[in-house]
Amino acid sequence: MNEDFKKIIEAQLSDIKEKGLFKEERIISSKQGRKITVNGKEYLNFCANNYLGLSGSEELITEGKKALDKWGFGLSSVRFICGTLEIHKELEKKIAEFMGYEDAILYTSCYDANLGLFQTILTDQDAIISDELNHASMIDGVRLCKAERHIFKHSDLQDLEEKLKQTQGKRIRMIATDGVFSMEGDIAKIKEICELAEKYNALVMMDDSHATGFLGQTGRGTHELGGVAGKIDFITSTFGKALGGASGGFIVSSKENVEFLRQRSRNYIFSNSLSPTITAVTSFVMDYISQNSEPRERLWRNVKLFRQLIKDAGFEVSPQEHPIVPIMLGDAKLAKGMASELFKEGIYVIGFSYPVVPEGKARVRVQISAAHTEEDIKLAVEAFAKIYKSYI
Ligand SMILES: Cc1ncc(COP(=O)(O)O)c(C=O)c1O
Repeated sequence: MNEDFKKIIEAQLSDIKEKGLFKEERIISSKQGRKITVNGKEYLNFCANNYLGLSGSEELITEGKKALDKWGFGLSSVRFICGTLEIHKELEKKIAEFMGYEDAILYTSCYDANLGLFQTILTDQDAIISDELNHASMIDGVRLCKAERHIFKHSDLQDLEEKLKQTQGKRIRMIATDGVFSMEGDIAKIKEICELAEKYNALVMMDDSHATGFLGQTGRGTHELGGVAGKIDFITSTFGKALGGASGGFIVSSKENVEFLRQRSRNYIFSNSLSPTITAVTSFVMDYISQNSEPRERLWRNVKLFRQLIKDAGFEVSPQEHPIVPIMLGDAKLAKGMASELFKEGIYVIGFSYPVVPEGKARVRVQISAAHTEEDIKLAVEAFAKIYKSYI
């Protein structure tokens, strides 16, 4: 190891620790689910993106075993050489149908989908206008692209319109937004964004990772909730949250757009195919959630119950109805302290503070799942109330 380089890395690690930004990874020794085991103790899990409660489900395990037997473990190939199975095409068809689009293209993560999209379809003659709170993968995707970059203030339509006016000389303008923003659980003003896009002849791209499978009347996502089906040019999303939670992502769009991505998207062309087991099980999940509304209904009942009980207990929560529920505490030490006290009580949640969220807006983020029982939710709220009292 080069000694000079070692010192540089060590200094950076110390700096991360001094600033209180070092992320410890808790080691879990059980399946993902409403209860998980850490250091031999069981915890109620309120911080997974396991919205529909499918991640550790027995049905998915059975499907996974069947898929492993039929398709084997790996493919050792990219899609265009010898890495396209019938089940990849089947999953792409199901995703496209579910999302209401002509076609879909699979990536090994949504991060990858976001890295692959902008650089492939936009050039230096174009402009991207991106919400300031967009997910890191969109920010990185935009960085890889030669188009001019513009950032609009979070969900600020006036600022967005200003940026659309400023970029009128460009060949193509693309507005990029999360469907649901993960720190707040707040939902993009997608109807208004689409109206502005129409007015200024711009494209719309939305990352719907925190909505696919459960938001909107039939769980299609933010486009369904906002009544803008067919008006968003590209939607990216993940299989790593509500849709079984393994990994993988996709882009849906028109037939031609998806064909172009297949021909030109570098991280699609030069990266291994989505693993057969994940592909087959996710395909099962797409059928399952299309035919069973029960997990979605249970999730929303749980969301309503938690939001009501936590408000009744005197906590300030964001107003939007979403399973991401940030409990706003303001002070960073309070948020961190409450999360670790809750952990001692058997409730696993995470405290977030600056720079992940703005200064003075520290919070404990709770994520509700269809897997939670009423009893779990009541226990969590009681623990919040008890621990908060010990702080004031
Ligand atoms: C909005 C958003 N987009 C993309 C991703 C990345 O998804 P994946 O885990 O499939 O790479 C995440 C994950 O945290 C996310 O929250």
